[in-house]
Parts: sequence; C-alpha cells; structure tokens
Amino acid sequence: MAALARCYRVLLPPRTGYGTSPSVLNVFQQDRHVHYAMIPHGRSGRSSVSGITATVFGATGFLGRYVVNHLGRIGSQVIIPYRCDQYDLMYLRPMGDLGQLIFMEWDSHNKDSTRRVLEHSNVVINLVGKEWETRNFRYEDVFVKIPKQIAQLSREAGVEKFIHISHLNADMKSPSKYLRNKAVGESVVREEFPDAIIMKPSEMFGREDRFLNHYANMRWFVGVPLIAFGKKTVKQPIYVVDVAKAIISAIKDPDSKGKTYALTGPNRYLLYDFVEYIYAVLHRVFLPYPLPRPLYHLLARIFETNPFEPWITKDKVDRFHTTDKKFPDLPGLEDLGIVPTPVEQKAIEVLRRHRTFRWLDTELEEAKPARPITNM
Ligand SMILES: NC(=O)c1ccc[n+]([C@@H]2O[C@H](COP(=O)([O-])OP(=O)(O)OC[C@H]3O[C@@H](n4cnc5c(N)ncnc54)[C@H](OP(=O)(O)O)[C@@H]3O)[C@@H](O)[C@H]2O)c1
Repeated sequence: MAALARCYRVLLPPRTGYGTSPSVLNVFQQDRHVHYAMIPHGRSGRSSVSGITATVFGATGFLGRYVVNHLGRIGSQVIIPYRCDQYDLMYLRPMGDLGQLIFMEWDSHNKDSTRRVLEHSNVVINLVGKEWETRNFRYEDVFVKIPKQIAQLSREAGVEKFIHISHLNADMKSPSKYLRNKAVGESVVREEFPDAIIMKPSEMFGREDRFLNHYANMRWFVGVPLIAFGKKTVKQPIYVVDVAKAIISAIKDPDSKGKTYALTGPNRYLLYDFVEYIYAVLHRVFLPYPLPRPLYHLLARIFETNPFEPWITKDKVDRFHTTDKKFPDLPGLEDLGIVPTPVEQKAIEVLRRHRTFRWLDTELEEAKPARPITNM
C-alpha cells in the first residue's frame, strides 16, 4: 500500500478514458492514496490498465523480452532498468502501449540507482543472469549480491510481489559454480523477502536460446563432443514462452506468494537422444563422440580466453551434463494453469535457420521425434 501511495504522488495525474464512466472515476479520485494507473480497468488488451506496475531487472536478456511482451500485452506499466546503449533496447519499445514502457539507466553497484527503479512498482521481477564470469562481475555478484540487494530494497519499498528466477538444478553441491551460486541466491532472496516467488526453470529453448542453438552450432566443430556419449545425462527442457506465462500467472495468482515453482517441459530425454533429434530437424549428419570431462574442460579453457561471449566454458560443460532434478513436491506449470509445450512442436522455430538451403522449407514431421524416457 505504501508503494501505491507513493505512486500517487509521483506518477502523472489521473487520465480519463478506457471505458470508465466519469462517476466511477470520481470515486477513484476521492481515494487519494491509489493512483488511477494502478486500478485495473479497460478490456484487458494492451491499451487497458492491468493494475500491474512491474520493474523487470534483466529485461534485455533472452527471457526478459518474452516477459516484457506478455506484460505489455495485458496493459501493464513496465519499468526496464538497463545498462547497455539505449539504441540496443529499441526492439522492446513496440511491446507496450505508448508511454507504458519506461526505460531507466541502472547501475547494479549503486543502491540508490536500484531503489529508484523499483520504488514505484507493485511487482519486481529479477531475471539478471550471466552464463559466464567477467572481470567486473563474478557469479557471486550476479546470482547472490544483486538479487540480495533487489530483494532487500523491494521489501523496504513495500513491493507486493517479488519474483526471482533461479535454476532447476541449483544446488550447493553442484560441480557447476553457476548452479552453486544460484542455490545461495535462492536462500538469500528467501531471507530478505520471505514472500518471494522463486521459479526454477530447466534449460529454456526458444529462438534466442543458448541451448538448441549451442548444439546446432557445434556442426562447425565437425562432431558433437558429449561426456559419456550423453547417455548418463537426462534433460527436460522448457519453452521460454511457458516460463514467461508462468511469471504472469504467478503475478495474478493471490496464492503464489512465498512459493517455489519447479518449471520443466513435458518430456525427459537422454542428452544423446535430444542432440540426435536436433540434428534430425537440421537434416545434418549427427557425429557424436565421447569426450572425458578433463579433456572437455581443457577445450573449454581455450574458448574461455575469448574476451567476448565464449562459445563454451568449463561451467557450461558441467551444467549441460547435469541431469535435471525432479521435484514432485513443488508446484509446476500445471498449477499455474499452463500446459507445457513439447520441444517437438517448437524446435523448428529455433533450428530452421541452421538448415541448408535445400531443406529450408521441409516440414518438421520428417524428423523422427526424440524418444522420451521415464525411468531416470
Ligand atoms: N537461459 C536458460 O536456459 C536459463 C535456464 C534456467 C534459469 N535461467 C535464469 O533465468 C534468468 C534469465 O535468463 P536469460 O537466459 O534471459 O539470461 P540472459 O539472456 O543472459 O540475460 C540476462 C540479463 O541480465 C542482465 N545482466 C547480466 N549481468 C548483469 C549485471 N552485472 N548488471 C546488470 N544487468 C546484468 C543482462 O543485461 P545485459 O543485456 O546488459 O548484459 C540481461 O538483461 C537468469 O537468472 C538465468 O540464470 C536461465
């Protein structure tokens, strides 16, 4: 309520329109504590008002664009903190109605800057993440310190819903430093904001992913190296749009506060079968070969010297060869009213561009579906 009251003072004066009758408007205006922009009205399209004012940290990333798009589509006000060049954000602009997306420069080292971008929101979503460590930001910074700061300031600002994206395999004992820090991040967020909604998606696929595209790009390296042929690793990938929908459902669901969700796709596959399916969709020869973990790490170290995005890192080798956990006790996509999308339905969206010209228009049905497994 405190955040709503502050919004009244700071945001623009109330507007008329969106089908609300003047008498109703007068009632709203008498309640000086609630800003008109926070009261849901209209026909639930992008020009209506959903009542959600959300700050989306990490909106410029892979998942971020889908979350912003879904929020914009239902008529939400979205605050987008960014650190990149403002021209790199242009693709986000059409995702909301005029004036509904607000871009603000953000420096995660600066507490005041974080406070400024979230203090007028009733929902805060943390999607900040990095697949590799940089000189300025280690995994501890990205997955522990930044979420801790956002959670703490969100609580202080009286934010109603705080959504934190972790990882399905987050575990203090994982060989992957990324996943160990994700596990610490979950507990610090819970400490700072006990009602936080924590979402644990498995590896996500979608047009801009670093999963299907990663394996498809391995064709440049002649064959696909897999630890133990990928026959000891089980993956249950999830479609990125399903995760975005889960976030929106959790915002709307009054019972979601304080819950942890395990988000996975409908089927589990052996990594070997999964990569074989990717190459079947590509209509390219699948040449897998086993590579022992130390040798794979050595190879990855060479790529890690790349000052830009490394193609593979030691951590990514470990993360991709970690079997996806099962959490039968945690709620999942179905509890949020979402039917998980099978990879066979959307793989073509991601992989068509990796095909040769000859196979460009071939339909998906020609690729034999991967064999799901149930016993691992
Ligand atoms: N992708 C997956 O398959 C997957 C699976 C499970 C969980 N997750 C988690 O889901 C979340 C979103 O994933 P994603 O794939 O969308 O990540 P992404 O594409 O790498 O995007 C990450 C976002 O975080 C921002 N960011 C990174 N480091 C930052 C820093 N030091 N200061 C400020 N902003 C920073 C990036 O901003 P810039 O654009 O400025 O770099 C970007 O907007 C992450 O927490 C990730 O760990 C991802």
